[in-house]
Amino acid sequence: MSHRILAAARRTVVVVLAAACTPNAASIRLERAALTGDVLGAEAAAYFTLRIDGARPDTIVGLSVAEAGTTSMQTYQAHRVSDGPDPRPTMVRVEQIPIPSTGTVRFAPGGYTAMVSGFWRPLVRIDSITLTVELSSGRKVSTRAPVLRFDDLEAVLDPGAAATEPHAEPTVADGERLYRANGCASCHGATGDGDGPVSRTLVPAPRDFRVAAPFKGGAGLDQIARTLAVGVPGGGSMPLYAHLTNHERRTLARFLVSLQSPPSDRSSTP
Ligand code: HEC
Repeated sequence: MSHRILAAARRTVVVVLAAACTPNAASIRLERAALTGDVLGAEAAAYFTLRIDGARPDTIVGLSVAEAGTTSMQTYQAHRVSDGPDPRPTMVRVEQIPIPSTGTVRFAPGGYTAMVSGFWRPLVRIDSITLTVELSSGRKVSTRAPVLRFDDLEAVLDPGAAATEPHAEPTVADGERLYRANGCASCHGATGDGDGPVSRTLVPAPRDFRVAAPFKGGAGLDQIARTLAVGVPGGGSMPLYAHLTNHERRTLARFLVSLQSPPSDRSSTP
């Protein structure tokens, strides 16, 4: 009994403390936000970091972009290895994202993603958008976010990592080294023709990099680099390489493009 009273008393103290330092709108920050076109079949994807100071638990329950009609919160399936002819979708919708005790939630390629569609104007002509995040407490926070090429995202989303990356253009030899170091050959084969030791068990089969046409996310350098970060449209058992740096993904892509015959256009894509 006394234990229960003590617990109740402790709760009261917590409530009083919480009331005394109720976080106001200024203690929620939406930072490092950017939007990029054409991610996994959606018109655009938005990424950002949300920070909350203060102990009150809260949950992200909605996202909106003023310039577009629909926004959904999505995340990657934990187990994406396909077990039949129909690969599972790469991403699943989430309705709520609890904010952990660190007070920080990060939306980033390979993780939580805001899929955006139904823009009022063509995306190519929009240079920034207004992103609003809604919390279960009723609080809302908005920010302006630039519309960027996928390749330029890292500088905004993770400036620390971007600053330490080499500026030199990736070489084919470096790409080949990363291809071996990251185990790509176990599925795609030592020469990239799709016949690695693991390939027989996989449906659909790993891509043969010599042939550009079947690439679902595009076979250009920028497109391959983006696919390594966000996944293959429609799923399959191709792993994500979101943990690599932008420069490493471009270096891998450089090697893959060099295997194509004839090599596909290396020019940039939106
Ligand atoms: C576990 C096996 C596996 C590993 C390891 C793997 N891949 Fe794949 N990869 C696949 C499969 C399977 C597909 C075909 C997926 C599909 O069609 O849905 C694929 C497709 C691709 C594609 C084509 C995407 C598209 O647009 O269609 C690229 C590019 C690619 N892989 C690059 C790589 C690179 C680079 C590595 C190493 C960093 C790697 N893969 C490691 C299995 C693998």
